Amino acid sequence: MISRVIEWMDERFGIVSIHRRILRRPMPEDISYGYCLGGMAFTFFLILAVTGMMLSLYYVPSETEAYRSVQKITEEVPLGWLVRSMHKWSASLFIIFILLHTLRVFIAKAYRKPRELNWMVGVFVLVLAMGSGFTGYLLPWDQRAYWATEVGTSMAGTVPFIGEYLLHLVRGGPEVNGNTLVRFYSLHMLYIPLSISAGLWMHFHMVRRQGVSKRL
Ligand code: HEM
Repeated sequence: MISRVIEWMDERFGIVSIHRRILRRPMPEDISYGYCLGGMAFTFFLILAVTGMMLSLYYVPSETEAYRSVQKITEEVPLGWLVRSMHKWSASLFIIFILLHTLRVFIAKAYRKPRELNWMVGVFVLVLAMGSGFTGYLLPWDQRAYWATEVGTSMAGTVPFIGEYLLHLVRGGPEVNGNTLVRFYSLHMLYIPLSISAGLWMHFHMVRRQGVSKRL
């Protein structure tokens, strides 16, 4: 039955050839599990995207409603606690697997020519992933979230000359308040994921173009 559906789709859409083009790649013979770490990071990125889309159906990014909406997700929405936990755990595992992947790439010296640009794109994605964690931390809008953001953003104020301007830019005003929450929510669910997706598109394009490096 499934193969008939695939055949039907393939006749009209060419799904099998797309699959072949994307997934079938020549790999070095002595590949190790270390080469799966980037793929694991990507898997957690996908889980984050799906669970984040589910959470956004109930989360309300406002000073008066945010805390209550997170409580509602955890206690009242069916399986809300599970989706929220999956999102939180995947966020930590996403960063852990990016770091392990970076370590594997570093040990293999795969940052050398011709992969320097891909290393740089990787660093860009890593910074964005950390930004995603930082902006997401504020969203529960509880004491811990508030003070972590208060301390984290105050560092922007210490930059010479433009510190005060930067602080206002990050917080949406002189202090952490509802403006900061809206700003962080927007960064967390739109700007950062889109930028990570664009970065990963470049990353995978270069991996496909150059192939993965051989083990040392
Ligand atoms: C969301 C983050 C990331 C994802 C999903 C990701 C995914 C991948 C995947 C699937 C590969 C091919 C297989 C492999 O070598 O694991 C790869 C290769 C590579 N990645 Fe990443 N990556 C990420 C972040 C980074 C970072 C932070 C760096 C470096 C700072 C980096 C540098 C590289 C390089 C240089 C290669 C080529 C490795 C080789 O040819 O051996 N990546 N990445």
